[in-house]
Amino acid sequence: MSPIGVFDSGYGGLTVFRDIERRLPQYDYIYLGDNARAPYGPRDFETIYQYTLECVQHLFDMGCPLVILACNTASAKALRSIQQQDLPGMAPGLRVLGVIRPTAEVVGQYTQSREIGVLATRGTVLSESYVIEIAKSFPDIRVYQQACPMWVPLVENNEHNSPGADYFVQKYLDELLRQSPNIDTIVLGCTHYPLLINKMRKYLPDSIQVLSQGEIVAESLADYLHRHPEMETRCSKNGQVQYFTTESAADFEAKAAIFMEKPVKALHLAL
Ligand code: DGL
Repeated sequence: MSPIGVFDSGYGGLTVFRDIERRLPQYDYIYLGDNARAPYGPRDFETIYQYTLECVQHLFDMGCPLVILACNTASAKALRSIQQQDLPGMAPGLRVLGVIRPTAEVVGQYTQSREIGVLATRGTVLSESYVIEIAKSFPDIRVYQQACPMWVPLVENNEHNSPGADYFVQKYLDELLRQSPNIDTIVLGCTHYPLLINKMRKYLPDSIQVLSQGEIVAESLADYLHRHPEMETRCSKNGQVQYFTTESAADFEAKAAIFMEKPVKALHLAL
């Protein structure tokens, strides 16, 4: 078995994995959530890098030739160091990909005004990764960022559909839109935010479109595998999925079922 590894700080990456599995059901996957140490969003660079590297190493040890960092914060703060410093010595031939570049590469297809908003964790916003990556593909686009530190806890505590969530949804959207009246596209640059999309729509004009990453990342992975037959042939294809969590497997199964909209069986991974 050489499954494709999908890593996230916790449950959120399931919003991305859900679309990857739908788009590419033939492959085997291992999803690893580092629930014991989530959330990553408020943590410093070194910590996020160390945690992410450790989990990537576990996925390699479990036989994954390719690992997707489904977590925006890990993609923002750890991906480049892992790709440039660690992979060449530690695991030549193995690959790690993130979610920010694939998203940044397509935003230009959506915006007319060339002004977009990015909603993300504080860690992702401070890294400026979206600003940097979007500028590479679309130098004419202006990017406005807004950190939404209360949104991950709302989703993690299953309060995202509650009336109390409205206050924080409206608050951060107002703060973003106050930065420019010309924003016509908003990128959800955090794995958890798609679960708040119905509430967001209540406070946004219809003229503003909201982009979730799942389908974008899934399409980009399909394209990557097509362009890299040497990697594609290494990935096993039995349509099997295994879930691992660094916290309680029972808790993971209960929460993951909400994200995946189906029952999930999980195993505990000791760090
Ligand atoms: N998965 C993280 C992200 O996409 C959100 C949760 C966390 O802060 O760990 O940024």
